[in-house]
Amino acid sequence: MSELRVLISRKQIEERVAEMARQISQDFAGQSVILVGVLKGATIFLSDLARALTIDATFDFLGVSSYGDRGAPPEDRKNLAGWESSGEVRLTKDVDQSMAGKNVLLVEDILDTGLTLTYMKKLLAAHQPRVLKIVALLDKPSRRKQPIQADYIGFEIPDQFVVGYGMDYAERYRNLPDICVVSAAAH
Ligand code: IMP
Ligand code: MG
Repeated sequence: MSELRVLISRKQIEERVAEMARQISQDFAGQSVILVGVLKGATIFLSDLARALTIDATFDFLGVSSYGDRGAPPEDRKNLAGWESSGEVRLTKDVDQSMAGKNVLLVEDILDTGLTLTYMKKLLAAHQPRVLKIVALLDKPSRRKQPIQADYIGFEIPDQFVVGYGMDYAERYRNLPDICVVSAAAH
């Protein structure tokens, strides 16, 4: 069994996403952007962010999975925070449109070790966009294994496993409106 505790409320998320959208709209004033969401975790963030932007935006999506997939964190562990990715990333869905010469915003739910984003950034850079920026709702800087940073960050969080607002635990909890910390319950 798992226990959930609200870490960032829907109200806090709403306010921060609006601020991020204002900043992005200012930075790209008079231009258009392609929002490239990373499936599936970033979809809810992308849909809220997109609706708060005042500039022209189109969507695209990338799908990735890790080899030796870390899948769900083990149920029997008290501390889920140290659960590791293999770091070897596989592309399951490429973008549908040309990114050449475009303003591309890679939209991710959470920047953790940085292995996934480093891979995706390289992949998109090969499409030769005019600008490539990373937008991450959450950042766990203490977990970083690759020296990658997001250009726009919603919240910095400690090394805790979170779910909700698109993020899952064994595919569950993506539909929670708040961001919650999940921990294995004491039996
Ligand atoms: P990275 O390659 O370690 O940076 O992995 C980032 C990806 O791992 C994110 O896009 C999430 O899909 C997943 N992830 C990392 N931390 C969490 C978490 O606390 N909750 C849910 N998913 C997470
Ligand atoms: Mg993800």
